[in-house]
Amino acid sequence: MKHLLDTKELSLADALNLLDTADYMAGVGQGDLLKLPHLQGKTVVNLFFEDSTRTRLSFEAAEKRLSADIINFAAKGSSVSKGESLKDTIQTLAAIKADAVVIRHSASGAPQRLAEAGWIDLPVLNAGDGTHAHPTQALLDAMTLRQFKAQRDRVETRGLTLEGLRVAIVGDILHSRVARSNLWLLNTLGAQVKLVAPPTLLPRYTDSWPAEIYHNLDEALESGVDAVMMLRIQKERMQAAFFPSAEEFTRFWGLTPERFAYLNSLNHETAVLHPGPMNRGLEICSQAADSPRSWVLRQVSNGVAVRMAALYLLMTGGSSQDFYPAA
Ligand code: CP
Repeated sequence: MKHLLDTKELSLADALNLLDTADYMAGVGQGDLLKLPHLQGKTVVNLFFEDSTRTRLSFEAAEKRLSADIINFAAKGSSVSKGESLKDTIQTLAAIKADAVVIRHSASGAPQRLAEAGWIDLPVLNAGDGTHAHPTQALLDAMTLRQFKAQRDRVETRGLTLEGLRVAIVGDILHSRVARSNLWLLNTLGAQVKLVAPPTLLPRYTDSWPAEIYHNLDEALESGVDAVMMLRIQKERMQAAFFPSAEEFTRFWGLTPERFAYLNSLNHETAVLHPGPMNRGLEICSQAADSPRSWVLRQVSNGVAVRMAALYLLMTGGSSQDFYPAA
């Protein structure tokens, strides 16, 4: 694996290698093991052309826990406002020093362009591009679902797939790179994916997607789910009205107190996930977001471990075996 651009291209072995490495990385920063020396002397450029809290901060925390040097670039306040191109921006940063590039961009395909155009010869990690892909988000979601499954079934996480886990991804699928990256990775890991959205918030080409499609959230929940992943309504990407009103969206597709009470009444546990930032009261109620069934903050802390794993594997060529030597 030279780059991490999209989960569609990850094999099961790649995914388990990333997740098992992330399990080890989750212990770094706790107790006596505050940092690892593996990226000492290497520089990671964090190139953010679009706003971010969780992804930007957790990449930075991951780099620091691996002892890397960091160059942070935010398009706001840079020479991008004077018209400097992506090619000139990245070549400028590489000339200062770079051993890997993390990029978030509003244009779908920008990380692929950076990886394949021949402007630089460095590992590229996609931190979210347009509506296309957000691979580290899907990996941290998979890590969280693995922890949920391991806790529920009282088994080890290492080597665990998501075989048999029923995951509903709910809401603004149309604009969601998180949904797309989760769809491919969850399938690779053996989970059963249910996409739930109004027809206006689904892409036209879902026929070829490995997922069951629901337009009614209550039907999807009654069909049986082990986890619900509520998506953010992405108002900033909406140029038109995709539903009549916020109240109507919440009534039909939101995780309301009533739907959350229904999940609580079932005799099996259901995990609640959200990639953040949350629109509380729109796609998810606070009762669900703040409940013991919510894995939202665990998703954030798993984000650091997953990004450490991705940086370690891409920048050193190592594998999870480096941390779990054969007995
Ligand atoms: N989930 C996610 O990508 O959040 P940020 O936009 O805050 O990075």
